[in-house]
Amino acid sequence: MSDLTEPQLRALVENFYATIRQDDALGPIFNDIVQDWPEHLDKLTAFWSGVMLGSGRYSGNPMAKHVAIRSRLSPALFSRWLSIWGHSARALLPPDAAAAIEATAARIAKNLQRGCGLLENI
Ligand code: HEM
Repeated sequence: MSDLTEPQLRALVENFYATIRQDDALGPIFNDIVQDWPEHLDKLTAFWSGVMLGSGRYSGNPMAKHVAIRSRLSPALFSRWLSIWGHSARALLPPDAAAAIEATAARIAKNLQRGCGLLENI
């Protein structure tokens, strides 16, 4: 585990989704589906707190949520998501923490893509 803190994760989540919402490819997907942004940001902060800090603060089923919208997803969009995540992480976190959370996001992204049937041959 890296030395991340809850406020750092909150700031990262806010910066990332502010950027994503303005992205030409990803913005429309999030803006169509997410109805309550404060709730989404709270949920995603809890998710990352659970993943990176082991806080157990998140309970939910990300796989089911993404499978439900799989027709709108693609490997190229996941790459774009990860690229924006990396930019936000490197802008806001110390290098070691940014590297750790980028690697974790890449691993989860791969799992989500597999679960959505987007990487069947890999
Ligand atoms: C192309 C890439 C992605 C797109 C377009 C996308 C889109 C979305 C959307 C629209 C929602 C809201 C679903 C809903 O409320 O019904 C959502 C939820 C979520 N996403 Fe993604 N996502 C992507 C990649 C990722 C990745 C790589 C991660 C993690 C590393 C992630 C983690 C989550 C989590 C934790 C939730 C909340 C699930 C819940 O409601 O409990 N997403 N995503």
